[in-house]
Amino acid sequence: MNWQTRLRPDVEAIYREVYEQGLHYQEITAPFADDPLLKPADGRRPLSIAVEGGAFGDEGKGRIVDELCTRLSLRHGKVLVYRWNGGANAGHTVIVDSIKIALHQLPSGVLTENATVILGKGMVLHPGDLLTEIDQVVRRLGKLYAKLHIDETAVLALDTHRAFEKALTAWESGGKGATGRGISPAYADVLLRHPVRMRDLTAEDWQDRLGKHYDLYESWLRGIGSPLAEVIVPTLEKSDTPLLVGSKRDFLDRLGEQRARLLPYVSDVHDLLVSAWSDVNVPVVFEGAQAVGLDPRFGMYPDVTASDPTFSGILHSTEGVVFPHEIAVRAGAIKATYSSSVGTRKPPTAMDAALAKRIRDDAHEYGATTGRPRDIVHIDIPCLRYYAHVSSMTHLILTHMDICYTDVPVQVCTHYTVDDQPADYRPDQPFLDRVTPRYLNLPSWNGKAVEDKCKISDLPAPALQYIGFLSRALDVQPIFATTGAARDALISWLPALWD
Ligand code: IMP
Repeated sequence: MNWQTRLRPDVEAIYREVYEQGLHYQEITAPFADDPLLKPADGRRPLSIAVEGGAFGDEGKGRIVDELCTRLSLRHGKVLVYRWNGGANAGHTVIVDSIKIALHQLPSGVLTENATVILGKGMVLHPGDLLTEIDQVVRRLGKLYAKLHIDETAVLALDTHRAFEKALTAWESGGKGATGRGISPAYADVLLRHPVRMRDLTAEDWQDRLGKHYDLYESWLRGIGSPLAEVIVPTLEKSDTPLLVGSKRDFLDRLGEQRARLLPYVSDVHDLLVSAWSDVNVPVVFEGAQAVGLDPRFGMYPDVTASDPTFSGILHSTEGVVFPHEIAVRAGAIKATYSSSVGTRKPPTAMDAALAKRIRDDAHEYGATTGRPRDIVHIDIPCLRYYAHVSSMTHLILTHMDICYTDVPVQVCTHYTVDDQPADYRPDQPFLDRVTPRYLNLPSWNGKAVEDKCKISDLPAPALQYIGFLSRALDVQPIFATTGAARDALISWLPALWD
């Protein structure tokens, strides 16, 4: 797609080519003749892949990364996993040998033997929750399989930030709708040029540095009528006694214990990264958190996060060691037949309530921690294509291929109009409130019949046609599709790793 057709491709023409003339889709849905990981396009580094959320988060990318890391490690004896953004706001469950493991700050690659895992500079880390998570993994698997490194320049997201976010929420201002993990206050500290980083915690004079940080937050919170010491903050470890931020001494005592345990993991990871990225025998997997639809500039504002969940975040987090356009595969995950999200946002492609409920129940679309029902909407090509383009996505991961019904067509929005004139997606709710989505009804398939299938050839023609259509409309190549919750319910277009 060139620059002229990038913004408004003729999706109805793509529909006619794929569905009426049967053109292209067989090529698109066939396994790659040249494995893009082993023989990437010119100038890209072999054996490198980055995975981002292509919609609004919770697309199910964690289990794909887990499976990918396992296969890469088995085949190549090692794998480097790099997490570039977010913190304790992320959450996904991975099942290893029937053991369920919930991950937040650790990427799913941490469950892979022989993996080296880096928590990058672009992350915001809560030391207490991170240690709880490490302990949980060790308790469940017997040990930490991967070698863990934390970039000393990663930013801290502490109980002070959680308290501040809570106070803002009470004021119904910027904290509204956040996960309560202090994510945006921690990133805001960077812009205000007073962040506390991992190396402040590992420094000899850490009590001075973190003490000053406490004092600043204490005075801010006092200013808005919310004494810091008395604020109850969330913790990963459930406890009957709520955790108060407490006095400066309490705060520093907690951090002191955590510091002692984190010291062995914290270092300057720059040389490690340079040497791994320069050695084409080391497979490198970049694992993102959240999704493009939550990006503060491109997402559906104001339900956005503060980090850079797009591939460009890799450039910042690695301090320019890795250029996103050099990564062989930049894959974005979306749900195949619908999108879901929680928030105040009103996506234009609202769905009939009965169908939304059916999907919500079948796909368990309820918030993992809150149990809140997620909003379910039709596939919105103008929006998803925008997300694919602004994040420089090259490949597509389609999850939940089993959520499809023979008695209901797959309804997709091909374009928007405003006052009968064509209109584009823009990350601005008042604008989106004015657009009229225009739809096509596409042939559906029996979701139950594709459940747990793991070969491209197991998919019925309408499912393949749909994958061909969507890939062309979003201008990306399919690389994985999932057909159920089980680990093996995964179809791959990568012949070398999945033969
Ligand atoms: P924050 O990241 O805690 O600041 O939350 C900002 C917005 O992003 C809220 O609407 C959250 O629900 C959403 N959000 C943050 N992380 C995730 C995620 O991992 N999945 C889905 N939504 C998320």
